[in-house]
Amino acid sequence: MIALRFLVTGAAGFIGSHLSARLSTLGHQVLGLDNFDAYYSPSLKHLRVRELLTPLGLSVEQIDLANLDLTRELIKDFNPETVIHLAAQPGVRTPMSQSYKYIRNNLVAFTNVLQSSIEQAVPNFLYASSSSVYGNAGTRAYSESDSSIRPLSVYGATKFANEILAPTYAMGTQTKTRGLRFFTVYGPWGRPDMAYFRIINSVLGGSKFNKFGNGEIKRDFTYVDDITVAIVKLSEELSKRESGFSDVVNIGGGDPHSLNELIGLISRETEIESFVAQKGQNLNDINFTCADVTKLRMLADCVPSVDLKDGVMMTFKWATEPGIVELLDGWVESSI
Ligand SMILES: NC(=O)c1ccc[n+]([C@@H]2O[C@H](COP(=O)([O-])OP(=O)(O)OC[C@H]3O[C@@H](n4cnc5c(N)ncnc54)[C@H](O)[C@@H]3O)[C@@H](O)[C@H]2O)c1
Repeated sequence: MIALRFLVTGAAGFIGSHLSARLSTLGHQVLGLDNFDAYYSPSLKHLRVRELLTPLGLSVEQIDLANLDLTRELIKDFNPETVIHLAAQPGVRTPMSQSYKYIRNNLVAFTNVLQSSIEQAVPNFLYASSSSVYGNAGTRAYSESDSSIRPLSVYGATKFANEILAPTYAMGTQTKTRGLRFFTVYGPWGRPDMAYFRIINSVLGGSKFNKFGNGEIKRDFTYVDDITVAIVKLSEELSKRESGFSDVVNIGGGDPHSLNELIGLISRETEIESFVAQKGQNLNDINFTCADVTKLRMLADCVPSVDLKDGVMMTFKWATEPGIVELLDGWVESSI
């Protein structure tokens, strides 16, 4: 295998830290960037770097990608073969009064990284999109060829805008782009704003999990290792394409489960009940997500394979480790 230079943005984040570790283990040179944003606990981000990346000799440079000059300089100096842009304001629940965070981090920072990569003739530019682009598209598997996409949230709209900007910028240049539509990613070192993380924290800490709606919303949960394996394979496949090529690919398991099923599973496995507090409906929630993974299978010869029970139990095991379990509550409190 040829060792390549990968620039990973959002490297102190959940997916970015796992991906940087995988790329480094495969023998690649990795430069991680992150601004350690306070959307949720920056100390969790620093701990990921210390526990997952430092032992591999990796560090994460602190930079705000909304600054074009700094972004341009870093990409020029490192001169990567591949940029994997994961930095973003995630989640759909940030209040409208703070929606500028989506614009700043998902549009301005995105464009800075994309433009700098194109100026530097970086061959491969992959970026995180989301199942949120599909909005409420019914109860069938969502396909990349759907032409009637209508995001429901500002978050989903900014991700969809990324997908429109990338091919327009890359057309006629040396750079190929690929948008990765992730479907509800979970696992150890995950994001404390997400339901599975909060459920595990409630079970371990004795607090109540706030359940919004009737719990019948379904998500195509995807284990983080399945995601990083697919990203690596999709980046290899992209590198074989012609200059200026652009597309988007779903990365999900194609096997949705409801919030009630997730609660039931954790309750059964831990033999703990009565940790749920019923709340009203959240209007930004999509009712159903399910990835059509035909394209992923064709391009990368892989589909996510970790089933929800195994993945949740691996996450639960991580959450009970000394040095983690006592910090969970603070991390959950730090996020909305
Ligand atoms: N986790 C999921 O279920 C999921 C699903 C769909 C899409 N995604 C997308 O995947 C990507 C990674 O998600 P994640 O779950 O790891 O989120 P995360 O919040 O853990 O990671 C994102 C990182 O980006 C950094 N960041 C934000 N703005 C920045 C800026 N201006 N400059 C530099 N760094 C900045 C944050 O500090 C954070 O560490 C995001 O683009 C997200 O929208 C995630």
